[in-house]
Amino acid sequence: MEPVMLRVYQGGNKGATAFFRNRPLLATLMDELAALGRPRVRVLVHAASIGAEPYSLALWHLHRIASRFDLEIHATDINAHFLAHAQKGEYPADLARGLTPEEMSWFERDGEVLRVPAAAKARVHFLPPMDCVRQRPEGLFDCVLIMNALTYVTPAEQTAAIASAAQSGCALLGLTAFHPDGIRADLEAVGFVPVMANHQAIHDSWGDRLTDQPIDPASTEYSWKLPRYDAGTVDAPWRFGALFRPKGLG
Ligand SMILES: C[S@@+](CC[C@H](N)C(=O)[O-])C[C@H]1O[C@@H](n2cnc3c(N)ncnc32)[C@H](O)[C@@H]1O
Repeated sequence: MEPVMLRVYQGGNKGATAFFRNRPLLATLMDELAALGRPRVRVLVHAASIGAEPYSLALWHLHRIASRFDLEIHATDINAHFLAHAQKGEYPADLARGLTPEEMSWFERDGEVLRVPAAAKARVHFLPPMDCVRQRPEGLFDCVLIMNALTYVTPAEQTAAIASAAQSGCALLGLTAFHPDGIRADLEAVGFVPVMANHQAIHDSWGDRLTDQPIDPASTEYSWKLPRYDAGTVDAPWRFGALFRPKGLG
């Protein structure tokens, strides 16, 4: 089922996001977090926009895999306005068009509003606004996500953002919509390799980002649009990847 996009714009930032935006990614991420064998897992969500991404993690965890580990989610974004919206945990009921009946049952419906229930909200801690390139919260995280946001920074800033995320001590790094030509070098510089579980299924689930048309490397689309999965492409495990882990772990 295709997710319904929530599109918000403020102060030059585009906050388009969706609940359960990539279900194979969510399922794989949760399995990889469980496989760490840690009783409590701390996830940092950079570029969390208006909250659909961290709440998707919280809801999925709560209803699908909560018995295997405790989950603590810390979420931030460069845009304070988006974070204020996120903290409310309220969304238009129209979102229901992109939810399975089971997912729909995870929300509270109040007229034209879909509300994230208290149990899921309690798993998400919102941090002050933060630039993922130049700022990093204190403390260590088992997993850092920077999803659909590196397209808004330069390739050099992407290198810095990935180096900063790796300093959080994470055992899993989630990235998508990155500058593809530099991604392998950026990850190898911090000792990370692709997670190959469900590699193509995750790629194929990026919906309207996938295209059959050629993508001009000089265009802004180059870090956003995705070509069809082709294992023969140079650096395919990196270019078509979304989850990465330190080499030698897992
Ligand atoms: C397209 S939305 C992605 C939202 C969510 N991560 C997702 O995948 O659905 C991009 C988000 O990145 C944020 N953003 C842009 N540049 C950023 C930066 N340098 N640091 C942190 N967040 C940034 C924007 O404010 C926006 O909320």
